[in-house]
Parts: sequence; structure tokens; C-alpha cells
Amino acid sequence: RSKVSIKTIQTMYRRKEAISMMTAQDYPSGLVVDKAGIDICLVGDSLAMVTLGYDSTNPLTVEDMLHHCRAVARGCKSPFVIADLPYGSYEASPDDAVRVSLRFMKEGNCDAVKLEGGIEMAETIHRITRIGIPVIGHIGLTPQRQSALGGFRVQGKTAKQAAALLQDALAVQEAGAFAVVIEAVPEEIAGYITQKLKVPTIGIGAGVQCSGQVLVQNDALGLFDKFVPK
Ligand code: KIV
Ligand code: NA
Repeated sequence: RSKVSIKTIQTMYRRKEAISMMTAQDYPSGLVVDKAGIDICLVGDSLAMVTLGYDSTNPLTVEDMLHHCRAVARGCKSPFVIADLPYGSYEASPDDAVRVSLRFMKEGNCDAVKLEGGIEMAETIHRITRIGIPVIGHIGLTPQRQSALGGFRVQGKTAKQAAALLQDALAVQEAGAFAVVIEAVPEEIAGYITQKLKVPTIGIGAGVQCSGQVLVQNDALGLFDKFVPK
């Protein structure tokens, strides 16, 4: 298969073809994603938990993540490779976010970056995309904010929360994101947001109505011991 590009993803979305995404964190897990013919490989910061054994994603550093990204990129020839921006590397200012995103493109050999947050990150997403770095958003359960959320919990259960989620998704889209990850949100809410957007939604724990799905490879293969996500 030839290299998946942002155009490939847009064409799949237009044709209503399901978009597949799976995480990887090193050369062999990158090869798995490549050989399975998966469209997008996410170097997710969940690797802090599933590969490094931390209790949250927050301790992961930019240098750690760059090291994992380079290894994944060597194994992933065809998939579009996305780097998760580590906690603490991008939130303080759009300038920080632009600088760290450039590092992932240049030193991490990635094709795009992912960051967590909705309306409050719109200006940041706008700044990164404006210099030609594709960004994918991430709303709903945002694990980097698990302290404020009170743990890894389903989001958007009340009408008010669901309405706020839609506003977040729209803001992320308007800011220039090429797609939005929706994590741990009731199926009907994720489906409704998917209908309202003009860019793909990629769900995890969000039902089957999204434009695509993402799985953490270690969870999919049963290689994580601490808990079994829904
Ligand atoms: O880090 C990760 O694996 C993720 C996905 C669950 C979307 O952010
Ligand atoms: Na993540």
C-alpha cells in the first residue's frame, strides 16, 4: 500500500469508508499497524501507562515521546503517523505548542500531531495548522486531565455536557483540525457530533457511529494488566 496522506483520509471520509487507527510505541508495534493495513498510526501518550507502567500519561516527557516516535516511524511505512503532544508541552501558550509540534515533525518523523482539549485549545490548533502542521483534536475523556475529571470516566452523559462537547468539536473543526478523536462518550452523542461535523470523528469507547475508530494496541491484544477498558 502506498503512503496514507491527509488526502487519503479526506477521500475515505467523503466516501463514508471507515477509518482505522491504532496506537504503536516502538518498531515492532509500528510494524503490526503497518502490516495490518491500518490507515493511521497514533503514537499515543497512553504508552506512558501501557508500555512504561506509569499510573497516568502525565509523566511522559517530550524527549521520551520523540524517542518512541522515531522508532514507530521506522516500522510504519504506509500509515499516516500522528504524535500525541505530551502533557505540559503545549498548554501554556500557542508558541509552546507550535515549537513542540515542529519538533515532532522534524525530529519525530511524524505526519501530524494530536492534542487534548476543545474551545480553549482553538487558538492553539489554529496557530499550528496555519504553519502547515496537520492537527487532530481529542475531546470527551481527555486522559491528561484525569485529575480534574476525577479519573478515567465517561463524559457527555448529561444534556448540558453533551451540548458542551458539540461546541468543543465545532471549535476544534473551525480552528483547522483535520479530524477529532472522541473518547468515552455515549454512542448517541458521538453519533450526533459526527453528523454535525464536516471532518471525520475517530471514536474510542464512543460507539459505532463515528467516522472511524482508534484502539490502543496493547488493549486490543490483551497486553495491559492494570484494568480492562470498556
Ligand atoms: O494515547 C492514546 O492512546 C490516545 C488514544 C486513546 C486516542 O490518545
Ligand atoms: Na493520548
